[in-house]
Amino acid sequence: MKLVAGPASPGLTETLADELGADLVEVAHERFPDGEAYVRVAEDLSGEEVVLVQTTPADERWVELLLLQDAVASWDPASAVTVVPYLGYARQDKRFEPGEALSVAVLARAVSAADMPVVTVDPHEPSVMERFDVPAEQVSAMEVLADPLAEEGCDFVLAPDEGAMGLADRVASILDCPADFVIKHRESGTEVTTEQKTLDVDGRTVAVVDDIISTGGTMSNAARALRDQGAERVVAATVHGVFAGKALKKLADAGVDRTVATDTIETPQSAVSVAPVVAPVVEKLAG
Ligand code: R5P
Repeated sequence: MKLVAGPASPGLTETLADELGADLVEVAHERFPDGEAYVRVAEDLSGEEVVLVQTTPADERWVELLLLQDAVASWDPASAVTVVPYLGYARQDKRFEPGEALSVAVLARAVSAADMPVVTVDPHEPSVMERFDVPAEQVSAMEVLADPLAEEGCDFVLAPDEGAMGLADRVASILDCPADFVIKHRESGTEVTTEQKTLDVDGRTVAVVDDIISTGGTMSNAARALRDQGAERVVAATVHGVFAGKALKKLADAGVDRTVATDTIETPQSAVSVAPVVAPVVEKLAG
């Protein structure tokens, strides 16, 4: 098996190659002076089982992914699987207002055009998987995300909104501790408010678990509520660390002691790899 490292996912691809006992294939990539992307897979992949990995936290990452699929397909491999560790645009999963683009459907269609099965990690809503026109599978990172939280001694898990309660419950069952949630209202892309709620967290080390940290507003509100109610330590845990703008500073200012994320987006906060949970699904689809 050959693992093709997209420009946005070099670390995860290497870890996944180790996990699968597969060969790593480098991709040459650059930008033309006008900003357009160029990718080339120089290694001959004819007749090989190929897995390409490219995460999509920004528009240019999507373009690189589509180009990479074409570069891989040009070698006529025996099979090819596309891993999109973070599926960007998944939060625009419906037309909230008339006339809006249904963004995730547009991008899922584009990725499906290469006719390769797709694997992603904790998409924002499970229903987005139905937008692909090719076999598409999601995996959960909760099993690996729980590791650093166990090391931190977390003894309470909080979901910073109702949508994250499923994730929080899974982590709490792994850590064997209680979980609760708070109710969030989104006022705009950058503004969220969180309802007051009494939480049994006095003296506890609390993990706040969410799928995405973007501006950090959701996590910061939760952290402040926890600090106000006597939590001793607060660990912000997310699958996808987007960390837009000054998100990390916002978290620290709100009383977050440590922020941990996976390597679906590779940042200094990537404390664990999703490779162990992605590998079995990739093996199944490639075979
Ligand atoms: C939304 O429902 C997601 O699960 C996250 O809570 C949200 O994307 C976090 O965004 P931010 O960090 O900007 O508050």
